[in-house]
Amino acid sequence: TKKSRSVYVCNSCGAQSPKWSGRCTDCGAWNSIEQGVLPPKTQTRPGGGGYAGAAGNAARADLSAIHRLAEIAPEQEVRTPSGIAELDRVLGGGLVQGSVVLIGGDPGIGKSTLLLQASAAIDANPAFASSKGSVLYVTGEESPQQVSLRAQRLGLEPGGLNLLAETCIEQILATAAAEAPRVLVIDSIQTLFTEALTSAPGSVSQVRETAAQLVRYAKLTDTTVFLVGHVTKEGALAGPRVLEHMVDTVLYFEGESGNAHRLVRAVKNRFGAVNELGVFAMTDRGLRQVLNPSAIFLSRHSEPAPGSVVLVTREGTRPMLVEVQALVDQSPLANPRRLAVGLEQNRLAMLLAVLHRHGGIAMFDQDVFTNVVGGVRVTETAADLAVLFAVLSSFRDKALPVDLAVFGEVGLSGEIRPVPNGPDRLREAAKHGFKQAVVPKANVPKGGIDGLEIRPVLSLREAIDTL
Ligand code: TYD
Ligand code: MG
Repeated sequence: TKKSRSVYVCNSCGAQSPKWSGRCTDCGAWNSIEQGVLPPKTQTRPGGGGYAGAAGNAARADLSAIHRLAEIAPEQEVRTPSGIAELDRVLGGGLVQGSVVLIGGDPGIGKSTLLLQASAAIDANPAFASSKGSVLYVTGEESPQQVSLRAQRLGLEPGGLNLLAETCIEQILATAAAEAPRVLVIDSIQTLFTEALTSAPGSVSQVRETAAQLVRYAKLTDTTVFLVGHVTKEGALAGPRVLEHMVDTVLYFEGESGNAHRLVRAVKNRFGAVNELGVFAMTDRGLRQVLNPSAIFLSRHSEPAPGSVVLVTREGTRPMLVEVQALVDQSPLANPRRLAVGLEQNRLAMLLAVLHRHGGIAMFDQDVFTNVVGGVRVTETAADLAVLFAVLSSFRDKALPVDLAVFGEVGLSGEIRPVPNGPDRLREAAKHGFKQAVVPKANVPKGGIDGLEIRPVLSLREAIDTL
């Protein structure tokens, strides 16, 4: 008989070692190592390396398994829209057969709600028709009665939606194989366990092994698999690196509890653009799509307010207008505060240095707070110019025109650099009734934009002069 092997797995990075220790040698985390048991080696490593001298390895070289790349006909991925446009957008155009999608986020943010709504939409979509039902929704957290209650609240047409309350992966896969759904939803990966391991559900070894089995199943059967993953208190999915590497697409829910808006961001996508953003609003009847996000993130004031600037940012493939705010105030501290919410803090410090050096405006005795309205996170450098405008506007206590839109990267030598897709951004601004724009010179299209007075700038000084 083959012996099971013990293995020790780090809970924070997933590294394996043969011995227990108090500290992970890979990531340095303390008290993160736990024991797991792997099934006999031959089961976990089918057909490993076959090089000469590998003791006890029965695999023999099979040269017919090698193909010339040029002789392989490329296979287009089969992609079908779910019918929920904002979800399809972050997926890169729809569900891809045989792909595995991880949906992460804080507990209670709306993962189950989104997947139940998506399941109903898929079920109602003839493109996903399947003999025994197109979706199998596996619920490990809620009872079927609770899911049914939720479906009722959401006003969903349950139709042929199949529910399975089960947490044992072997059972789930046996059922899925018999039912052959087109889409398999696992809610959540942290509740699953495999009989091969003794550790508790939710531990890194369990999450990794059950996810690996699901990935294998997806590829073998061309099923689309959705995995729900909770983010832990520390802000990481259990075994994050392991899961993110294993799946094709990783979507994260963003949003604040006090705010109805929910952003679903693609942070990894083998089949589409990353940083693509789907925008939803949580209502009493579930998640509602927000097809025109510019309209909601602009909490437009009826009259001009100092410290507020409208930025045209771009998330994935879509331009979006957001309001950037700044508050600059005399600081009582020796080390004045710099705070950036929804923006990069280090970038703010850098911009203030550029403002001093190349604009001649010093902020070393001022606290500077910046914020993007609506809980949006902006990571692109195109926000630079808007941040500086907001800071200046607050510093001078002078409001900027309400019909002004801004974007542009600020370089360390005070130059204003162009950003991707300038004309797209300008069109979005014009579409929402903006009349003026201050933007990098190279971003201005030849014919201009109808209805928009564009002021191209090359340097920070020029930009400040336009105010
Ligand atoms: P849920 O999808 O259960 O979160 P997750 O699966 O990510 O843990 O989201 C539940 C939250 O959403 C809960 O706080 C209640 C709220 N909610 C609504 O506001 N409206 C609704 O129609 C539903 C179903 C939930
Ligand atoms: Mg849930």
